[in-house]
Amino acid sequence: MDAIGFGALNVDKIYLINKIPKAEEEAYVKDVKIFAGGSASNTIAGLSKLGLKTGYIGKVGNDADGDFLLGDLRSWGVDTHNVIRADGRSGNALILVDEYGNRAILVDPGVNDTISFEEIDLDYVSKFRLLHLTSFICRISNESFESQKKLVREFEGIVSFDPGAVYAERGLKELKEIVKETTVFMPNAIEMEIMTGLSYREGAMEVIGMGVEVVVVKLGERGCYVTDGNVELEIPAFDVEVVDTTGAGDAFNAGFLFYYLKGKDLEECGKFGNYVASLCVQKIGAREGYKLISAGNS
Ligand SMILES: Nc1ncnc2c1ncn2[C@@H]1O[C@H](COP(=O)(O)OP(=O)(O)OP(=O)(O)O)[C@@H](O)[C@H]1O
Ligand SMILES: [Mg+2]
Repeated sequence: MDAIGFGALNVDKIYLINKIPKAEEEAYVKDVKIFAGGSASNTIAGLSKLGLKTGYIGKVGNDADGDFLLGDLRSWGVDTHNVIRADGRSGNALILVDEYGNRAILVDPGVNDTISFEEIDLDYVSKFRLLHLTSFICRISNESFESQKKLVREFEGIVSFDPGAVYAERGLKELKEIVKETTVFMPNAIEMEIMTGLSYREGAMEVIGMGVEVVVVKLGERGCYVTDGNVELEIPAFDVEVVDTTGAGDAFNAGFLFYYLKGKDLEECGKFGNYVASLCVQKIGAREGYKLISAGNS
């Protein structure tokens, strides 16, 4: 087996509204679009589409959203036998978008944050070459974050880690136990700076010093920066018409990791990350770009 994801599973409910209401105000909904989301699941769906054998560790509720999330992962070819179902709400992200494109996001982590280490089947996880981690909200319960720390200690394969803004805000000290077990660390530039209090290049060297092998910093329209502590590369993004950058970072991760697992060099990995991300930004939605790829032909 190739790659397993461990991160939040959310239903993204995008409400296109007339205005984002303030306290005591009312607004109206013009349209609703519903997508399966969660950063790691976007990346794992992409890896699956690229032809890898994938699986997922996560938790959904015993509700209709849970059925939707599981069915969606399966439709991308992801093995969902180790996704836990529990009493409670599935994760939701309510995204309000007004007429000017301004966004307000409300995340309900639901059961996502309550994955205990004992619920994870270590034998199953050990069958995979790569474990990809992304964040959980973990404000009310810290359980899933603690389980990630324990799992990376046990897992012997390649660990890739995209902290996203939610974990970056915790700062490097709190993330240390995961970072020091990470093989490929994949924040964006702002996250790296918030997390380390350094420029992204200095931050990269700091985490290399903690044991990370490869640092990939996503630079938006500027592409990416990649280093292993010796080689430093800035690889420009593809010049494409951008419609929606939602999930661009997750798509980048899929492209980069796909080539990394194939044993390609860092420059090729960075280029392929930028390429898969460039497909993503040309379509609305985090995973629509993957539909431009046909499995196995890359
Ligand atoms: N305007 C753009 N044109 C071309 N490619 C882009 C553009 N914006 C982003 N990308 C591609 O998407 C990748 C990831 O984008 P970005 O740096 O915004 O990541 P991110 O902030 O982690 O994204 P996300 O919000 O999905 O987590 C970039 O490294 C680049 O390859
Ligand atoms: Mg990101």
